Amino acid sequence: MCHLLELDAQWGCYLRLPSPIPYSYQITCFRSKMAVSLAWCFFCCHCLPLLLSLALPLHLAYGKPNSDVHVFSIHDMLPKSICSSSEASASSNSSRLQVVHRHGPCSPFSDGPKVSHGQLLDTDQARVDTFHVRVSAAAAAAHVDKLSSSPAVTIPARTGIPLGTGNYLVTVGFGTPRRDSSVIFDTGSDVTWIQCAPCNVCYTQEEPVFDPAESSTYSAVPCSSADCGRLDSHSCSAASTCRYDVQYGDNSQTQGTFGRDTLSLSTSPSDVLPDFEFGCGDANSGLFGRSAGLIGLGRGSVSLVSQAARKYGAAFSYCLPSGSSSVGYLTIGRRSPANTKYTPMLTVPGLPSFYFVSLTAIKVGGKPLPIPKTVFSTAGTLVDSGTVITRLPPTAYAALRTAFSQRMAQYSPAPALAILDTCYNFTGYEKVAVPTVELVFGRGATLNVDFSGILYVASVSQACLAFAANDRADDVAIIGNVQQRTHNVVYDVIRRKIGFGAKACN
Ligand SMILES: *[C@@H]1O[C@H](CO)[C@@H](O)[C@H](O)[C@H]1NC(C)=O
Ligand SMILES: *[C@@H]1O[C@H](CO)[C@@H](O)[C@H](O)[C@H]1NC(C)=O
Repeated sequence: MCHLLELDAQWGCYLRLPSPIPYSYQITCFRSKMAVSLAWCFFCCHCLPLLLSLALPLHLAYGKPNSDVHVFSIHDMLPKSICSSSEASASSNSSRLQVVHRHGPCSPFSDGPKVSHGQLLDTDQARVDTFHVRVSAAAAAAHVDKLSSSPAVTIPARTGIPLGTGNYLVTVGFGTPRRDSSVIFDTGSDVTWIQCAPCNVCYTQEEPVFDPAESSTYSAVPCSSADCGRLDSHSCSAASTCRYDVQYGDNSQTQGTFGRDTLSLSTSPSDVLPDFEFGCGDANSGLFGRSAGLIGLGRGSVSLVSQAARKYGAAFSYCLPSGSSSVGYLTIGRRSPANTKYTPMLTVPGLPSFYFVSLTAIKVGGKPLPIPKTVFSTAGTLVDSGTVITRLPPTAYAALRTAFSQRMAQYSPAPALAILDTCYNFTGYEKVAVPTVELVFGRGATLNVDFSGILYVASVSQACLAFAANDRADDVAIIGNVQQRTHNVVYDVIRRKIGFGAKACN
């Protein structure tokens, strides 16, 4: 009788004990979608104590149903062709901006050229490579500083190359009268810029190009200004105005006049930043899609966060939507909902703009993976809005892949997709159960990755574990934007902490 009860730990079976306790109980498994009811166990006197001793620890370990697996409909995860958000919410009344994926149907450029998953992931690697070069160059510079007290050893603290460009857009207004500009936002760089007329070299953008001559509040920053000197790369024009120059890691670039004008964060007249400093780009090329430019949300002094600090406090938060057909938000200013858990924001010498945190553990299905803490501390970790796929130290990724694929053994494998090597073919399934994945940070803050952040679903027949390994054990780990989906991610720059709160976009 009792041998009927096979508790399949791997699939998160749970035991229900309706009252009166000894006579009937039920075991439900996600895998079989089958509820086995066993009534009237005649030999209860013998079996039940044994059963309970076996089952209760399991029940306790796995907790409530669903706590260690996500069960979802595969069709809900497929890329949609229709934006699920109503246009009305586009104009919010605070410094809360609507965030859309640049390649999805909610993007203002949704009729633009389609980008394949492979292309998107290859571009992502270019951004990650740039992070690795910059972080290791900074580490080398710090090492040289430590070795030598001689002031003659000068390695540029800023190696100059920002990252490739990000994937999420917000719409803000520049100038008086305001001109709407849909721009990429990027926590990995500082300078905000838009394309400006007259263009020397401009790529094709969706909205009309901003013409500073038509704005009554625009002025160029003189090259003698201290603000000009704060730019990583600047020069002086013939007219003694400040020229900026940003080269991104994916070979995208922008150059032009560093100017000041009114920045409108929303349609409300109170949400304006007068004399906001930004690049008025007259020579721009690269992977900016049809956006008007980019908003820099790094920690450096020229970033939007720093410039908005006096009005809003040096803090911002965003929620990236679960898919490209829904919308999220970007809020400038401090907003920390009750469910947000914080981890310290760390700084690495020579890299003042990046947001470092301390990743300490990874859990799959609620169980910590056997990864020594030094694996994480050797690499270091940063949080980035523009990197798509989270990159982990090789040892950590191997442990994640092993635990994940053990729990996905029932599904057929599918071919790799660019950098994603653990893929499944869900053809024929209505519902799919994936184990939870939690990223645990210093002081216990946990990012319990939404199921939209565990699998990168290219199609029903190719859904891949949305994590990848770094090449080297000392390459910095990066928490990418797929894993941040649906969380309120708070960057509290002034209090030096980063927070994660679940289920935030709606
Ligand atoms: C407008 O602002 C108020 C108060 O800040 C807020 O409660 C409300 O939800 C906002 N409305 C929208 C559409 O964002
Ligand atoms: C996925 O599985 C289905 C059914 O098992 C099969 O017909 C199809 O060829 C598979 N697709 C890929 C890409 O492996």
